[in-house]
Amino acid sequence: MKVRAVAILGSTGSIGVNTLDVVRLHPDRFSVFALTANLNVDALFAQCLEFSPDIAAMADEASAASLKTRLYQAGSRTEVLQGEAANTKLAGHAQVDVVVAGIVGAIGLLPTLAAARAGKTILVANKEPLVMLGSQIMHEALDHGATIVPVDSEHNAIFQCMPGGGADGMLISGIEKILLTGSGGPFREMAMSEFAGITPEQACAHPNWAMGRKISVDSATMMNKGLELIEACALFDVPPGFVQIVVHPQSIIHSMVQYVDGSILAQMGAPDMRTPIAHALGWPDRIESGTKRLDLIELAHFDFQAPDEIKFPALRLARAAAQEGGTLPAILNAANEVAVEAFLNNGIGFDRIPVLIESAMDTIENQQERSLESVLEADQRSRHYVEGLL
Ligand SMILES: NC(=O)c1ccc[n+]([C@@H]2O[C@H](COP(=O)([O-])OP(=O)(O)OC[C@H]3O[C@@H](n4cnc5c(N)ncnc54)[C@H](OP(=O)(O)O)[C@@H]3O)[C@@H](O)[C@H]2O)c1
Repeated sequence: MKVRAVAILGSTGSIGVNTLDVVRLHPDRFSVFALTANLNVDALFAQCLEFSPDIAAMADEASAASLKTRLYQAGSRTEVLQGEAANTKLAGHAQVDVVVAGIVGAIGLLPTLAAARAGKTILVANKEPLVMLGSQIMHEALDHGATIVPVDSEHNAIFQCMPGGGADGMLISGIEKILLTGSGGPFREMAMSEFAGITPEQACAHPNWAMGRKISVDSATMMNKGLELIEACALFDVPPGFVQIVVHPQSIIHSMVQYVDGSILAQMGAPDMRTPIAHALGWPDRIESGTKRLDLIELAHFDFQAPDEIKFPALRLARAAAQEGGTLPAILNAANEVAVEAFLNNGIGFDRIPVLIESAMDTIENQQERSLESVLEADQRSRHYVEGLL
């Protein structure tokens, strides 16, 4: 078996740490070629000592300098790169077989594109680039012989419920509908009138999943489900009307695919990202993930509900962006990133997040022609617009 060289972009985050947990179990299958982060020197330093990557990179220059000094003093041979562009360089590096896209936000767009253009196997957790550039990332991957395996638990579940991961096309597979499940977040049962008083700590305390702060807030506003709807359209080449969002508070079924004969295939597992990560790392083989196994008798029952789009307007906004296409998903995504950051810094109330996003979507012109340039421009315009409102 060939040992595959892995580059983990965002190795100190939730996805990165879970990926390294799985990689640690399989030294016969994977070697760590590169690890990247932004600011967290302590965590990257410890990862470098354990996994001895050839290269480590930090976007923040002062952090990179500090890491370099500490690794040198520790006798490590890991080379340290600095600056954001290092992610793009490493994603396309000739010695890398597998790129784990685990950076959070639009910042991951250029590295994901570089990995696609370099024909890598890309494990996509970082959903924002797919939201922004849509199916063009898939086309770039196809054109350059790259393989995209979704890591987001819902999309990984859908991938598992489609023969060949959907690669053989919707009509041939007889697929009728994608059922995208979501827990409904921590405020599913809270009255809307209380939303203004929600604190960042409350929003980041997801009932089922331990995740980074930005995606935790996205889950609380249900924008995460909206972004996932757009992500599903890009990954599986389906229109938004093909995707139904189903609230499933237990987070055990991670999504489903309905077929024309009435069958529904579901993928289940404990809410632990190491399962989809192990699936994506091992694919098409199955490998150990180190997760706790489900006890169905103990679980006893599953619940399903329709999502509440009045209470969670982010769902309506994301569906509108998916339907209108062009640069609108990038406008929505950038506005969301700025609004979430402001909320996390106690700059705005939780209830203001969708208001700011809707304002950006109403104000900034949607360019129907979607290209890397138009998407990056829309991203910048949306950021500046929302920053101006804060
Ligand atoms: N967490 C989950 O369970 C989960 C599930 C599905 C999908 N996702 C998606 O996966 C992505 C990552 O989420 P997360 O929860 O893992 O986020 P997170 O815990 O906040 O981690 C983000 C990672 O990105 C790094 N980073 C930020 N800016 C960077 C830059 N310019 N260059 C290099 N690294 C940079 C951070 O480094 P520092 O630590 O140094 O800041 C950190 O390693 C998001 O797009 C999210 O939507 C996450």
